[in-house]
Amino acid sequence: MRDMRMSFKNMLPWIFLWFLLPSCETNRGELIPYVEFDIYLLLYADLADLGIGNTKVIDGGVNGILIYRESDLVFHAYDRTCTLWPEHDAAVVEDPTFFGVFECPVCGSTYLLMNGGEPNSGPARYPLVEYNASLSGDVLHIYN
Ligand code: FES
Repeated sequence: MRDMRMSFKNMLPWIFLWFLLPSCETNRGELIPYVEFDIYLLLYADLADLGIGNTKVIDGGVNGILIYRESDLVFHAYDRTCTLWPEHDAAVVEDPTFFGVFECPVCGSTYLLMNGGEPNSGPARYPLVEYNASLSGDVLHIYN
């Protein structure tokens, strides 16, 4: 009986680890809460100052939305939430030294908007969450 207790005691650290390991899997960009929204922006009014290759921050999503204009008629919309630990609720901010690079003020992960919001440096492994952005006439519809 004593041997049984010893083996269970030896297994305790492994059982503890088994519960801890899934928490490392939060770095997926999947835990960012789903927020339903519809935002309509006028190309020649709301986005008149958004040139090709530029970005604009608007309210919406979880921590705000980054709109990136890839070309004349192609736009991307990313949530500002850092994907390393979404529960930190940290919003990426533009790196003043590198154009199109956004950085988490908590972990220092950087994301490259012209590369699909993929992490460029730092500990984050998953891209910023991208929302739908479709242009119809002169109205950009951003939605989830
Ligand atoms: S959000 Fe907490 S580390 Fe980037």
